[in-house]
Amino acid sequence: MTDPVAMPAAPAAPEPVAVWHAEHRNFARLLDLVERELAVFHSGERPDYELLLDVVTYLRHFPDLAHHPREDVAFARLVDRDPALAPLVTRLHQEHRVIAAAGERLRELLEGVLADGSFVGRAELEAACATFLVYYRQHIQTEERDILPRAARLLDDGDWKAVADAHAGAPDPLFGGAVADRYRELRRKIAVEAGP
Ligand SMILES: [Fe+2]
Ligand SMILES: [Fe+2]
Repeated sequence: MTDPVAMPAAPAAPEPVAVWHAEHRNFARLLDLVERELAVFHSGERPDYELLLDVVTYLRHFPDLAHHPREDVAFARLVDRDPALAPLVTRLHQEHRVIAAAGERLRELLEGVLADGSFVGRAELEAACATFLVYYRQHIQTEERDILPRAARLLDDGDWKAVADAHAGAPDPLFGGAVADRYRELRRKIAVEAGP
């Protein structure tokens, strides 16, 4: 499996770009877990629905509430510096909304599967999972390829402060220093996946 964000964003990138890149790597690790469960699903076996729900809940939580709002500020600053980026930034803004909607739909389906007596069609769930995965990966790849290197070149300290202020005080509840109770099991599974 190829790592979509394996390349460094830019040589000697500013620290906020390194953090941005690291968050993408974390999200990509979670998407790899989704892909693995999707393969289980496709084989006709029972995927780890609890794991999938944890992943999607997290991705509806931290990225949608903190990562994407910060990006939206960075995007606006980038367009100020280079108006030619406007069409790409418009698309990425729209993708944030599409990813949030696709994630919410998937989360609802997974909660339905796990709730007693609820019936969700396998085909519908598999399609929702695959759609979410494809959208999210493509979005991250585009940002890594077309946005982060430009941000490293074009944004200054004032811009980065505005980016940080877009969602100050929002620690990452999964990959941050203090893991929220909700995500302890997911963190454990990620550690097992990564190996000793
Ligand atoms: Fe984004
Ligand atoms: Fe991003």
